[in-house]
Amino acid sequence: MKILLVGGGGREHAMAKALTSASNITLLAAPGNPGIAEHARCIPIAADDVAELVQLARDEKVDLVVVGPEAALVGGIADALAYFKIPCCGPTSQAAMLEGSKAFTRTLAAQAGVPQPRFHVIDNTKDLNAVVRTCAEEWNTLPVIKADGLAAGKGVMLPDSLEECIDATRALLEGSMSDAGLTVVLEERIVGTEASLFFACNGTSWVALPHARDHKRLLDHDKGPNTGGMGAYSPNPDITPEIQTYVENTMLKPVLQALANDGMPYVGFLYIGIMLTATGPQLIEFNCRLGDPEAQVILPRLHDGDFISLCQATACGTLGAVHLRVDPRPVCAVVVCAHGYPEDPRKDDIITVGAQLAAPKGRDCPAPTTTWLIHAGTRLDDTILRTCGGRVLASVGRGTTLAEAKQHAYDGLRNVHIEGAHWRTDIAKTC
Ligand code: AMP
Ligand code: GLY
Repeated sequence: MKILLVGGGGREHAMAKALTSASNITLLAAPGNPGIAEHARCIPIAADDVAELVQLARDEKVDLVVVGPEAALVGGIADALAYFKIPCCGPTSQAAMLEGSKAFTRTLAAQAGVPQPRFHVIDNTKDLNAVVRTCAEEWNTLPVIKADGLAAGKGVMLPDSLEECIDATRALLEGSMSDAGLTVVLEERIVGTEASLFFACNGTSWVALPHARDHKRLLDHDKGPNTGGMGAYSPNPDITPEIQTYVENTMLKPVLQALANDGMPYVGFLYIGIMLTATGPQLIEFNCRLGDPEAQVILPRLHDGDFISLCQATACGTLGAVHLRVDPRPVCAVVVCAHGYPEDPRKDDIITVGAQLAAPKGRDCPAPTTTWLIHAGTRLDDTILRTCGGRVLASVGRGTTLAEAKQHAYDGLRNVHIEGAHWRTDIAKTC
């Protein structure tokens, strides 16, 4: 079976490992990275270049396209592949609005009765001061400000004063984040612990993947700015079977049903970010993909061969026949970031990796069972590995307990050297 994997980050390296854990898989990746290259033939096409990606899928006569990041999905890759009858594990551009438009999602979720914070959508600065003040008074919190569109993880602000809230909203509406911020969602600020749940969906059918917890803040003790994710672990002990069922019944099911009713059935992975508040779980966001770095900890928990079966069944609408086998052993990932991340990550630093922890050489040489490295912002400069992105690598550990998995992940970092690199020292610490 020939598969095209779209993307070139840590999530896609984890996906490449999981896809090639089955036999008889020929994997292409665009653009890939040096870690993915151990499993796939990498082709230098950008992960958001829909036209070139579709042409590649046609030229190579692939049997399936699996899409990692959101941009190509929002840009319509699944729609174009459907036209050429190439199965795709990923939603159409309409269904990908669940990630591509926060106003669309909040409105749809409200109509479907999903438990979520109160919100208000604005698209002009008329009476802005009064609107923001009214939201703050009614909700008794400073509103969270969200740019409606995709903003590379920079579209959510948690202001410390009403003035900051008004100024930031005005800036967005006046174009500070170009089109992404011309509509703004103000949200009630809710408090609690966050969790990430994942599903493979086709229409109104779904299969649950393992859940995870991500650490989004840059610094230890959840201080500093939000990032794409500094580390993760799976399973998430906060997610009891009751909470899992509650999320499926009150968030997943009604939203899948609403999309199907509106003629845009959802096909692909769905990420549900929730906050566990004093009054129960509430929806923070939907993403139309797996999480990063969550994929790095959920996919190693699937048995060999199960991920490709899941991707195929998702694309082809046969999820009813899938029985995922999940390894109960916890997995933990610690992300190593480049100097200057997240504001201004430095590129081209040399990465030195101890030999025994180098990326595994393809599926014939299985990864060490306890510790392995996942590539994200790395590139090969002749034979030298260099940084080329903010989140450079993840050290991933497996253990019989979460404490052991965490220990193994941190042990893996001892063999990595990157000038000026930094990482959190408290991933999975509460457990
Ligand atoms: P999002 O991109 O919507 O996931 O938001 C990024 C982060 O902002 C989330 O992971 C939360 O930490 C925080 N956040 C988003 N919405 C809210 C909210 N309504 N109340 C409190 N925190 C929020
Ligand atoms: N780790 C958060 C995300 O993938 O959006």
